[in-house]
Amino acid sequence: MEAILDALSNSQVAKPLILTLTVYVLWIVLFASSSLPNDLPWIGRDNSKAFSSLRATIKSISRSRELLAEGYQKYSSKGKSYIFPACDGPSEILVPKSSLRWLLEQPDNVLSAAEYHSESLGGDYNFLDKYILEDPFQDHVIYRSLTRNLQSVIPEVWDELASTFEDTWGTDRKAWKAIPLMDSMMTFVGRASNRMLVGAPVCQNKEYLANMMKYTTDVVVNGAILRVLPKFLHPVIGRLLSLRNQWHYSRTAKYTIPIIEERLRHMERKRNDPTYDWEQPSDYITWHINLAIAENNSIEMDPIMISRRLMPINFAAIHTTTITITNAVIDILSTSASKGVLEGLQEEIEHAYAACNGVWTKASLATLVRTDSAIRESMRVSNFMTRNAMRKVMPAGGVTNPTEKWTAPQGAYIGIDMHSIHHDPEIYPSPNEYDAFRFSRAREEASASSGDALDKMKKTESMSTTSGDFLSFSHGRHACPGRFFVVYELKMLLAFMLLNYEVEPLSQRPQNKWIGGNVVPPSELSIRVKRKA
Ligand code: HEM
Repeated sequence: MEAILDALSNSQVAKPLILTLTVYVLWIVLFASSSLPNDLPWIGRDNSKAFSSLRATIKSISRSRELLAEGYQKYSSKGKSYIFPACDGPSEILVPKSSLRWLLEQPDNVLSAAEYHSESLGGDYNFLDKYILEDPFQDHVIYRSLTRNLQSVIPEVWDELASTFEDTWGTDRKAWKAIPLMDSMMTFVGRASNRMLVGAPVCQNKEYLANMMKYTTDVVVNGAILRVLPKFLHPVIGRLLSLRNQWHYSRTAKYTIPIIEERLRHMERKRNDPTYDWEQPSDYITWHINLAIAENNSIEMDPIMISRRLMPINFAAIHTTTITITNAVIDILSTSASKGVLEGLQEEIEHAYAACNGVWTKASLATLVRTDSAIRESMRVSNFMTRNAMRKVMPAGGVTNPTEKWTAPQGAYIGIDMHSIHHDPEIYPSPNEYDAFRFSRAREEASASSGDALDKMKKTESMSTTSGDFLSFSHGRHACPGRFFVVYELKMLLAFMLLNYEVEPLSQRPQNKWIGGNVVPPSELSIRVKRKA
């Protein structure tokens, strides 16, 4: 995050940005948004004024929060769609919750998630080769293998978190230490995620990690620049921008390619001789190779290809999880002591850790219902994306919404205003308040009564459960497939923190910043910690 802010304040970057913005403004005036359905209302646009779309777009740079609230109140909450003048890309059609099912159930050749992701992330340039997002084999591996291998991943991630805490927060039991929260969370998430992806010791290698983080930031920055540039400039600017990605990738590949080659050799030997004395690690590299073999896919057996596939997975995992856990720690630490949130979490974690004899399993982590609720509630109230489940219209003739009868043209973006749903008092009483145990209170009460009630609550209220009311991982068949891993990873992170460190509460919640349509936690915030005696 700091890197992005530094880049923005750097004059060498500021000049091309101003040029980019000028081109963008001209582009909007001349071409953009002209083909969106006329029968849909806009928010923030005054048709009586010249350049009304441009004015609306400029407004949304600093006033997305008000525009979304107004759109929700005037249209979404009344079952109507409207056009939101996004400042970081084309204007979007936002549908009401009553059309969410329609939105999510359209086949990919009608409303495409992959095309939206690729276009909005500069997929042709940001991921080393167009092919990587065009044929996302890495997503296929995650869908097929991550959730079913979680049991073996849990002890590895716990071990990685323990050594990361010791390396970064230290072991001094006497003096308090100031920790830059977001940077520190990025290191935890980077190491823990890469323990699952490439294993130790590569996940701990400083050069590997630093370049992987830089690469994920390249994707964010380049994606933001490309989104506001007209398409005809992409082949030149996209290729130039992607030189940084190529460089950072090459610094990671020098570590991953040798271990991938070695893995391929061991796995082949084991296939030919089952008595060969070697146990295959349970990580992304193994899952990828096994799936490629099962599908007889020789392209995906190439070490360079596998090393490239690791890049979009790191992108999907790192910033999302870092921002989520940063927000959760801030929300927990700034809740008034009178609510007993820290104590409540501590008590639950200590009890569960003792009950599993210090060896976490899926079952023991599932008993952490308060911890689960504290993170889910933070994802609800402190969501960093504001619109979600975004899709791109694919058919040449566009797509017609069956309820409202408008037709969106080919190429248009359609999604939903998640922020306003998460803050709707009809859905969540006191919606702006962080109520850490909002989702676990009922579960704990239900567990005291019949098992049926507990089962029902588990299905509806746990962190990985998506719905039309909880959209942080989106919903439907493209809902984030990494979320089951995230649940265990973040519960273990909080568990290690509260079992081993004293952490000073915050006197008040530092405000998150709205940057266009995204909401980010304060990157400069430090917290004070001390290893428990
Ligand atoms: C707190 C952390 C995370 C959040 C909030 C998050 C959120 C999301 C969201 C909103 C989507 C888009 C879904 C849609 O378009 O409808 C998505 C997609 C995806 N995420 Fe995550 N994600 C997180 C972590 C991860 C991790 C750790 C992984 C992998 C290890 C991962 C892998 C993916 C993949 C492969 C997709 C594409 C799915 C598809 O298009 O079918 N995510 N995620």
